[in-house]
Amino acid sequence: MSSGREVLRVENVTKRFGGIVALDKVNLSIREGEMMSIIGPNGSGKTTLFNVINGVLKPDEGRVVFEGRDVTELPPYKRAAMGIARTFQIPKPWPNLSVRENVAIGALFGRLQGKITVKEAIAMADEIIEMVGLSEKAEAEAGKLTVPEKKLLELARAIAMKPKVLLLDEVVAGMSPRDADKVMETVVRVKREYGIAVVSLVEHVMRVVARYAERVVVMHQGRVLVEGPPGEVLRHPKVVEVYLGGEAI
Ligand SMILES: Nc1ncnc2c1ncn2[C@@H]1O[C@H](COP(=O)(O)OP(=O)(O)OP(=O)(O)O)[C@@H](O)[C@H]1O
Ligand SMILES: [Mg+2]
Repeated sequence: MSSGREVLRVENVTKRFGGIVALDKVNLSIREGEMMSIIGPNGSGKTTLFNVINGVLKPDEGRVVFEGRDVTELPPYKRAAMGIARTFQIPKPWPNLSVRENVAIGALFGRLQGKITVKEAIAMADEIIEMVGLSEKAEAEAGKLTVPEKKLLELARAIAMKPKVLLLDEVVAGMSPRDADKVMETVVRVKREYGIAVVSLVEHVMRVVARYAERVVVMHQGRVLVEGPPGEVLRHPKVVEVYLGGEAI
């Protein structure tokens, strides 16, 4: 739970795009086994923060420390091999490969990189595809899936990487409440059974955040505005203010 040791730390990270300060001296600590959620209005820096954590982007200032090691200069594939996996807000599967092949690629390039055979990766893929509820689509071309199915594929691919830190960027966006709960229950199970220490999620669906997150970090204009347990944070006056000027969440 959230009292676990720290696995990942973001230290004083600043990221600019031309004149835009997407991240402004962000500090964040993620602990082993915790389910935390990063929320914030559009453009507040959430996806940029994920990109800095997994190595898609290098920060202009500050560093990222994973299990005590400075990984700021490492490319994404090396961080993936160490145990940092993420899903993309806009799913990017290999469109001409099957669902099974896409997930197997996750297994081959994750933490078990170089330690498993293709056959083992495919067996793992089938197990995880079943877990996320995509078995019927195992043979389907990834490019032909619906958007929610692509999100499930992203989740399966990330789980197959056997990460220690799993960064989920809006996986339940656009799903019905029932499907969103099914996905979140899967995430909770994966966190427990697959030994994934940490799940971090960026979501706009407040109901999901309130129900599943143990800790919530609210971003606003590239900064951490408030953090704490969901019950407190979602009612915090500053948070209510940035979400559509006072509307209750
Ligand atoms: N590659 C980029 N080039 C230029 N500006 C960018 C780039 N990526 C993000 N930005 C800008 O940085 C800011 C933060 O964007 P980011 O995508 O991190 O926000 P977000 O919190 O994920 O938003 P959303 O809820 O819409 O997904 C925004 O002003 C955005 O326009
Ligand atoms: Mg985003």
